Amino acid sequence: MALLSVGQVIRDTYTVERLLGRGAFAEVYRVEHRYLGRQAMKVFRQEGMSAEQVRDALGEAMLLSRMGHPNIVRVFEANTVEADSGGHAYFTMEYVNGGTLTGFRQSFGDAFVPIPVAVDVMRQVARGLAVAHRESPPIVHRDITPQNILVGYDRDGPRARISDFGLARKVSALTLLASSQGTIAFMAPETLLHPHLASMPGDVWALGAVFYLLLTDEFPYPRRAAGDPITAAWDTTALVPPNQVRYAVDDLLNAIIVRALSFDTATRYPSAAEMLADLEAWPARQNPPRQDGPPRHVPPKDPPPADTGPTDSGPTGTGRDSRHADTPRADRPRQRGREPGPAGEIAAGKNTGG
Ligand SMILES: Nc1ncnc2c1ncn2[C@@H]1O[C@H](COP(=O)(O)OP(=O)(O)O)[C@@H](O)[C@H]1O
Ligand SMILES: [Mg+2]
Repeated sequence: MALLSVGQVIRDTYTVERLLGRGAFAEVYRVEHRYLGRQAMKVFRQEGMSAEQVRDALGEAMLLSRMGHPNIVRVFEANTVEADSGGHAYFTMEYVNGGTLTGFRQSFGDAFVPIPVAVDVMRQVARGLAVAHRESPPIVHRDITPQNILVGYDRDGPRARISDFGLARKVSALTLLASSQGTIAFMAPETLLHPHLASMPGDVWALGAVFYLLLTDEFPYPRRAAGDPITAAWDTTALVPPNQVRYAVDDLLNAIIVRALSFDTATRYPSAAEMLADLEAWPARQNPPRQDGPPRHVPPKDPPPADTGPTDSGPTGTGRDSRHADTPRADRPRQRGREPGPAGEIAAGKNTGG
C-alpha cells in the first residue's frame, strides 16, 4: 500500500501529485511545493522510527546536500511526516523529469543507444561519482544501477544524475542484499563476497556494468546476472568484450569498459576519477559518422507528464527503417540479458537485425 495518497498535503507545504517509483526502502513521489514548484519526495517505509533511526535514514540526504554537483541529485529539505501508517522520515530533492537510465535505454526501442550519447551519459555519471569518491573520506555509493541513475533533459541534451545514496553511509550485509536483489549484475565479485566492505573499485565495476548494458543491451557477465550472489562471486567466465557484442564500439572505449570490469581490483580503475579521465579523453572522432543512424524513439515506460514543457521530451529520432547497421563480429546466438527491476524487458535482436 502506498504511504502517501494523491492530493495529500504534507506539512502545509507539499501536495502529493503521484508516485514516481518504489525502491527497497522507500517510495518516491512527485510533489508540488507551495512556493517552489515541482519536487520529488522520498519517504522511507519504516514507520515509527526513533530519533536516531530518523537521523540514520536521513544520512543519505545529508550526504547529498554536501556534494553539490550537476550530476548528483540535489536535496532541498529533510524532515518527518505523519502518514496513516505512522511517522516516516522523508527528504525532498529536485524532480528529474526523464526517469531512470533503464527507461532512457529502452526509449531507443529496437536501436542501440548511439555510442556518443552513451558516452556522454556515462561521462556525466562518472563525473558525479568522481565527486563522491573525492570526498574525504571517500563516499562510496555501493548501489550504482540503471535504476539509481536519473536522466533529465536540458537544453544541451540528456543530463544524468546519480541518486539513491541510501547505502553509501552505513550498510550491513543484510541491507545490501535486500537492496541488491536483482542487481547482482552490477556488483563486483569482491563486493558479493564481502558486502560490508565498501570500496571505490566496487563502484567502478558497477559503472562498467551499467556502461556495458547501455552500449550492448546485455549484461557483461550474463551468467552472474541470473544466479545467486555466491555462485556469481565465484563465476570466472571470461568477459565477452563489448565490441564483440556491438561491432561499432572502438578499441579505446572497449578497453575502458574491460578495465572497469576486471575481476582483479589491482587492474581495475582505483576510483571513478581515473575512469573519468580516460572517458574525457575518449575522442568522439574515433567513431566515424554513425553507421547506427538515428534512434527510433519509443516513449519511455513512464512517460514524462505532458504539462512540463519542451525540455521534458525524451530522445527523439527521425525514424528509421533498418534497425541497426552494426554488424556483430561474432555471429553466434547469445542469451539476451534481462534487466532486473520493474522495467526489465530488453528488446532482443538489435545486433542481428541488420
Ligand atoms: N528525484 C527524482 N525524480 C524522479 N524520479 C525519482 C527521483 N528519485 C527517485 N525517483 C524514482 O523512484 C525510484 C526509487 O528511488 P530510490 O531513491 O532509488 O529509492 P530506493 O532507495 O528505495 O531504491 C527510482 O528508481 C526512480 O524511478
Ligand atoms: Mg534505488
